[in-house]
Amino acid sequence: MPETPQGSRPADYTTTTAGIPVESDEHSLTVGPDGPILLQDHYLIEKMAQFNRERVPERVVHAKGGGAYGTFEVTGDVSQFTKADLFQPGRSTPMLARFSTVAGELGSPDTWRDPRGFALKFYTRHGNYDLVGNNTPVFFVRDPQKFQDFIRSQKRRPDSGLRDHDMQWDFWTLSPESAHMVTWLMGDRGIPRTWRHMNGYGSHTYMWVNAGGEKFWVKYHIKTDQGIGFLTQAEADAQAGEDADAHRRDLHEAIRRGEAPTWTMYVQVMPFDDAPDYRFNPFDLTKVWPHGDYPLVEVGRMRLDRNPEDHFVHIEQAAFEPSNLVPGIGPSPDKMLLGRLFSYPDTHRYRIGPNYNQLPPNRPHSPLGSYSKDGAMRYEPARTGAVYAPNSYGGPAADTARFGEPAGWLAAGEMVRHAYTLRSEDDDWRQPGTMVREVLDDAARSRLVDNVSGHLANGVSAPVLARAVGYWRNVDKDLGDRIAARVNGG
Ligand code: NDP
Ligand code: HEM
Repeated sequence: MPETPQGSRPADYTTTTAGIPVESDEHSLTVGPDGPILLQDHYLIEKMAQFNRERVPERVVHAKGGGAYGTFEVTGDVSQFTKADLFQPGRSTPMLARFSTVAGELGSPDTWRDPRGFALKFYTRHGNYDLVGNNTPVFFVRDPQKFQDFIRSQKRRPDSGLRDHDMQWDFWTLSPESAHMVTWLMGDRGIPRTWRHMNGYGSHTYMWVNAGGEKFWVKYHIKTDQGIGFLTQAEADAQAGEDADAHRRDLHEAIRRGEAPTWTMYVQVMPFDDAPDYRFNPFDLTKVWPHGDYPLVEVGRMRLDRNPEDHFVHIEQAAFEPSNLVPGIGPSPDKMLLGRLFSYPDTHRYRIGPNYNQLPPNRPHSPLGSYSKDGAMRYEPARTGAVYAPNSYGGPAADTARFGEPAGWLAAGEMVRHAYTLRSEDDDWRQPGTMVREVLDDAARSRLVDNVSGHLANGVSAPVLARAVGYWRNVDKDLGDRIAARVNGG
């Protein structure tokens, strides 16, 4: 008989969770057919109690999502830049992807305008590597201190429980570093046609280290092979009413039909020593590196071809964390990334429990030599000969010669609370302005004006509206004038 993932054999009769055969699926134990229910009906109590505990808290952000398993195959040769095992020529690595919206709750429509999460977990030979990105190469803020405030402005008001465009534009217009991301969000790519028709980006700058110990800065681009597709605001609104789960359904059904979606991964590679003198801070998450400066280098292809057999087990309990970095890959001085390294494992311990890494979507496929033990819902027995290191009884020992890496970058200075040091092109309006003027065509610019003015027409107070017009004039004068004409009734 096949084993379930828990290792127990399936029965063809109903049992309690302790495997005891139950007498009935329909009738509670009562004093006579019409009498009161007895507390000794253990199975009834178990059914009710288990049901009451079926939910874990939803993710505080990115609650609504879906995903699938697949494989990442290396097609290029980036071994000169990183020794990471999963990126070596010819390597094939199993993986999990989860796509999501950010601000909506677990049951919210897939087609609300929002960035999309693009979270990847690679089960490498050296442990799990998580690349927890979005479908955008930039973000709204550049200091983790502002993340919680930003998210609160996007979610619901405490008084009415309603989402509120005034809050959103208030925060954005008081935070000019948001302009690049908001321009993106209000443009066509703010509502992808499906998850299969969007790109993913690592967004942050990461560090790669090669076998010789040389370091590089990289940005990941994961481009859809299905082609970019988007929904207009009107199409998305209609879709939200007709099928709130349209994107989750699309991915699941495409894979079931045998149409496994694929993406090609590229990196931009910046020589380590370029960073100090680059014309803007290359670690600022609100900026892209122009392709002209750092062209894309092909890495490999990911293919999603296996639907999870149980959405809760594999997707709801999936725990992605930017802190899962494997040998050959490290963080950069991006303050947002450094903040995220703490936040994700912390939320997983709260949302799922301290032993979340033992669950099917999270457990590594590589050998485990961890000294962690005990804690709620511990499933794996401690595997070491001793529960401490160093020990004389054969437990694992850190292999510094094999896995030790150059520590990273030079960090020195006084302790301060300060914005990044400004460089010549470190302004908030230049890159979104380039997108508006040089990347979008006339039709896309008109849809951007429609989307922004439609959003602003919905409950934004006069002072915030005035600031919003100024914000868009800073991005592009003509665009701002067109938006002003629309929101002021022109
Ligand atoms: P490029 O002309 O080389 O790149 C422009 C990129 O814009 C394209 O490659 C495409 O990214 C992306 N793009 C196309 N249409 C849209 C759209 N409707 N909404 C959002 N993005 C779109 O120029 P540069 O590299 O010099 O960048 C110019 C501007 O393009 C930047 O200021 C930035 O706003 C935007 N951009 C740049 C990216 C980068 O990493 N350099 C990435 C994405 C956008 P893709 O090929 O990834 O689909
Ligand atoms: C989810 C925090 C910025 C992408 C989450 C979660 C938290 C969080 C707490 C919920 C995780 C869970 O419950 O499983 C933060 C903080 C940030 C930040 C503190 C900034 C300081 C970003 C950025 C990106 C991003 C910049 C993309 C580049 C994601 C994705 C998910 C997520 C994709 C969903 C992961 C999944 O599918 O399970 N974030 N986040 N976040 N975040 Fe962030």
